Amino acid sequence: MRRRLWVGIGIGLLGLAACSQADARREMAGEAASFLERRPAPTGQVVEVRLTAAPTRLELLDGRMLDVWAYNGSVPGPTIRAREGDTIRVHFKNELPQPTTVHWHGIRLPNGMDGVPGVTQPAVQPGEGFVYEFLARDPGTFWFHPHVRGSEQLGRGLYGVLIIEEAEPPPVREILWVLDDWRLDESGQIDPRFVTRSDLAHDGRWGSVITVNGVQAPQIELAAGERVRLRILNAANGRVFRPDLSGLDAKVIAFDGLATKRPLPAEGVELAPGNRVDLDLLAPPRPGASIPVIDRFTRRPNHLATLRIGEAKENVAASKPIELRGFVPAWRRAEAIEPELEFRLNAARGGPYGLQWMINGEVMHHDADQPMSEWQEPPYALRAGRWAKLRFTNESARLHPMHLHGQFFKVVARDGRPVDEEHWRDTVLVRSRETVDVALVPTELGNWMLHCHIMEHQDAGMMTLVAVE
Ligand code: C2O
Ligand code: CU
Repeated sequence: MRRRLWVGIGIGLLGLAACSQADARREMAGEAASFLERRPAPTGQVVEVRLTAAPTRLELLDGRMLDVWAYNGSVPGPTIRAREGDTIRVHFKNELPQPTTVHWHGIRLPNGMDGVPGVTQPAVQPGEGFVYEFLARDPGTFWFHPHVRGSEQLGRGLYGVLIIEEAEPPPVREILWVLDDWRLDESGQIDPRFVTRSDLAHDGRWGSVITVNGVQAPQIELAAGERVRLRILNAANGRVFRPDLSGLDAKVIAFDGLATKRPLPAEGVELAPGNRVDLDLLAPPRPGASIPVIDRFTRRPNHLATLRIGEAKENVAASKPIELRGFVPAWRRAEAIEPELEFRLNAARGGPYGLQWMINGEVMHHDADQPMSEWQEPPYALRAGRWAKLRFTNESARLHPMHLHGQFFKVVARDGRPVDEEHWRDTVLVRSRETVDVALVPTELGNWMLHCHIMEHQDAGMMTLVAVE
């Protein structure tokens, strides 16, 4: 009798827990729904771009001639700019000696335009082309790069920035910094040994020459008291940057494209490969000042750039802080909810490079020659419009910036402790032995990549697919 009573209460509580979890999920999905479902009114404008990937020779780094692979003959490639509501149409041509694709990192777009070989399109063979077309839906700083042999193709210089402007962009000058690092061989050219055993045993290919927009330690001119919107992208294969902005009046106003909930402190902001940050930066009112910006992610600091403060200009003096009005849900009940999917990150011997990186013990490789009938099927699925929690459990000692295509997520816990980041992301750095919980409401249907954005880990198998149904 007594026993039965307890069992009864037990089942009752389980039922209650399950039903309150379902309520909490529904409530949290509702919290973000209007933001995530939002679509700008089409402007009727079409931004037409011709984009060609080809080997070329450029004056780069410290002014040397460097053999690179480039989009439209420059590294970084061209910056594509559109206004929210525009249609972007890119006529892509592959003049590389290898197959490639163009992936639009961080963008919500139709799955077929996502640029993943053997998943959303056949790879674009040398000499061939592909037309990418999608709506410029969410304003922000995004980028594009190949999704084939990333270690080599990004490592040789293939990447560019895609900026989607707000309907009414803040009235300030913009500066764009694309961060990268380069590994050179004895001849001073790009080291052609990609995905080495040592890269795989560590955090990918870290180069010794660091550049901002292809140039080593450039000087950036600002007027005294000038306010700028500084957009920064980390396009490196593996290196993480932590630009030290202490002593500067700088606030984070967007992360991975989307506006933050409020201006956030720029102190300690980290950019793992793939991450972007938008800063509201106010130049100090001291003409003649010269301010180095130092990367402090590694023990040995790296000089990124120098800000040179010129004379004040009248028209820049009185500008107000940049206002972007982002929406980021609080998702306070996230903690009590079990993750739908867990991704354990680890390595094992084997595979084409001798060491392979795995997600839940599985590897995935892109095969650029796969016929459509053999396109890869996702091992994981999420329901569109439903709140879900994903857990990344890093069982290794290395870094893994985990990136999910086509959706935005929010970090809700690190090592079991609740976190409220006040911004969205599409890439989150998971450190050695760390567990990171992220939450999202998937909105875009299709088969989406989930992978480590360290190109060498990715090329050595650290990818999987999540279907949004
Ligand atoms: Cu920038 Cu699949 O990544
Ligand atoms: Cu990794």
